[in-house]
Amino acid sequence: MKKYLLLLVFTFAIRYISTGQSPAAPTPDVLISIGTLHTDLVYRISGKDKRLYQLFLGPKLINTEVLKQIKNSDHQAYATYGTGNLFEPAIRMTHTDGNASLELKYVSHKTENNDKNVTITRIVLKDPEYPVEVILNIKAFVAEDVIEQWVEIIQNESKPVTIFNYASSMLHFDAGKYWLTQFHGDWAEEMKMQESELTSGIKIIDTKLGTRAHMYQTPVFFLSLNNKSDENTGELIAGTLGWSGNFQFLFEVDEKNSLRVISGINPFASEYLLQPGKIFKTPSFFFTYSNKGKGLASRNLHRWARNYGIMDGNKTRLTLLNNWETTYFNFDQPKLTALLDDTKKMGLDLFLLDDGWFANKYPRNDDRAGLGDWQENKAKLPDGLGYLVKEADKRGVKFGIWIEPEMVNPKSELYENHPDWVLKFPNRPEIYYRNQLTLDLTNPKVQDFVYNTIDDMLTKNPGIAFIKWDCNSMITNPYSVYLKDQQSHLYIDYVNSLYSVLDRLRQKYPELPIMLCSGGGGRVDYGALKYFTEFWASDDTDPLERVYMQWGYSYFFPAISVCNHITSWGKQSLKFKTDVAMMGKMGYDIQVNGLSANELKFSQDAIANYKRLSEVIWHGDLFRLISPYDENRACLMYINSTKNKAVLFEYTLNARYGETFNTIKLQGLDPAKTYKIQEINVSGERKGPLSTENGKSYTGDYLMNIGLNIGSGQPLTSTVYEITEPDGQ
Ligand code: DGJ
Repeated sequence: MKKYLLLLVFTFAIRYISTGQSPAAPTPDVLISIGTLHTDLVYRISGKDKRLYQLFLGPKLINTEVLKQIKNSDHQAYATYGTGNLFEPAIRMTHTDGNASLELKYVSHKTENNDKNVTITRIVLKDPEYPVEVILNIKAFVAEDVIEQWVEIIQNESKPVTIFNYASSMLHFDAGKYWLTQFHGDWAEEMKMQESELTSGIKIIDTKLGTRAHMYQTPVFFLSLNNKSDENTGELIAGTLGWSGNFQFLFEVDEKNSLRVISGINPFASEYLLQPGKIFKTPSFFFTYSNKGKGLASRNLHRWARNYGIMDGNKTRLTLLNNWETTYFNFDQPKLTALLDDTKKMGLDLFLLDDGWFANKYPRNDDRAGLGDWQENKAKLPDGLGYLVKEADKRGVKFGIWIEPEMVNPKSELYENHPDWVLKFPNRPEIYYRNQLTLDLTNPKVQDFVYNTIDDMLTKNPGIAFIKWDCNSMITNPYSVYLKDQQSHLYIDYVNSLYSVLDRLRQKYPELPIMLCSGGGGRVDYGALKYFTEFWASDDTDPLERVYMQWGYSYFFPAISVCNHITSWGKQSLKFKTDVAMMGKMGYDIQVNGLSANELKFSQDAIANYKRLSEVIWHGDLFRLISPYDENRACLMYINSTKNKAVLFEYTLNARYGETFNTIKLQGLDPAKTYKIQEINVSGERKGPLSTENGKSYTGDYLMNIGLNIGSGQPLTSTVYEITEPDGQ
């Protein structure tokens, strides 16, 4: 009894100390509820201590007021350092007087409707002792079930303060177990999926590369609660940070088995001096909650991305022939003109001229020279880009061009004329990646140079209809002459400067399709994708590898944004390559004149099929049916919103002796509709008889509950089906 009383007194004392409140009657708690169609995120303003707590994140409730019955909810919504929080903070700063603590108390909040579908809630928090304000911004995309979070930090002290941590989002979970799915890789090995259980302590996924920042880790994750989730079952969030630089996801499981997830810019080597009156705005963290597995989470993200996340997500895309793998740097005007003919012959929309077309004093004949000198190489293109644009036009195809405007080779006129425009230490040898260096985009003169390079090219050649924007190096020498004594701003200012150049370009060229590329998929995130129509997923175009890679990307990015090209990588049949490329934004990078008559006909027909079906692939809902991570095959389908047209892709990757494959049950169809099954991409290249299902009709009910008997059982073969409700066409 004595022990119990002591404990009571002790608990009371601790409370009193930690809140600094007198023990007067507490004012009631107030809830802030942020809802989408199927999700609620609810905060609690404590009447007792005026702090903001995350109370709930989960499925939509009939009335969030019931949450007031929850006891012991003490997850600070945006935990600080020095005032009671003993775990990882979302924010940490040192004030001008050297005090390193921060307290955030609720001041006000307001929810506004952007339109019928989007609400923005701004919650203002303030330190009672210092003029520091933190605004939590939470945008809810109602129909898509996606929530966006970002934070603004403002200080009005007499001098600058230093902020060390500045998360975009802090989320809390209370579950029995936590399963993290992450995606990592390297050049030509992007998006390898790994799942592991989070254990007590901290797990960090991050990057410190600066540019080409996502080369080893992509800023996306799934977090499953209690049990691992699969396509159609399991409770999880899918999260991603819209930031094209160093990012960090930090997962901390505490002594009570609660999990906090802190997402934002990687604070590594990036303490930021915040001037009085200035706003530090973090990038956005986007997430969706699903209690029906990863499939639903992906469809939510895809719909959101098409409507809000990527440039022109609801529009169409151009099919193209690229010359990178067929010519590399070795081409001239006649060779390129012949490729324009090939583009036309194949039935493609555009020819994309890749690296190697520029620089004269140090010609770009390999990757050791010329980067930065964006004038047409006179030996290769004596009549300039204008000639190629005109020749393309004559053939009724469009012309696009590659550029890598943030980079420079030391062997270039740009480097000779502006050594101070380059990121490098004044007193150390330069470290190169792909023989190149990164320009100092924090310098407004460099921003102008990048902007003007592209603007001049487009002004001189208004017929240029497409750009591939590459970025092949990380920041290997993190020092900016321009930033002087604020070197720790470099990683952050670089990305914001890149966005400001892209903003300027988009103001002048709002419609131009631009492919985001970074030595393959080294820069794939929703911070960049709002300026880009699509991204180059990887230089590895071996279709077997691509099945896994595209599978990985498909969890977070819609098919319309993922560029898949048919190339000479891999020894598989042209049909297999084509069928794999078709599940996203299809393109070509092959020797068209090396195709047999059969192969050419097959490709022309496949392109026509693709054009007929691209509306479903680009804008339809994706259902992943069989994962290559689970079986020796992969199967997925897209279906349009009226559920009268679907496309089904099946890839047999391997087959053990005697292995039989079960029928595949489809998803997302209307059970009451009757669908006709037609195998496509069969002309010329298809070996063996057509699928036994070809030409048959079934109800959606049958297809979803009994399934289709497809796949040849032969390794590295594929089938594609067009599934149509004939009456609904
Ligand atoms: C890397 C890209 O990923 C390739 O597609 C190609 O554009 C090369 N750069 C050109 O240097």
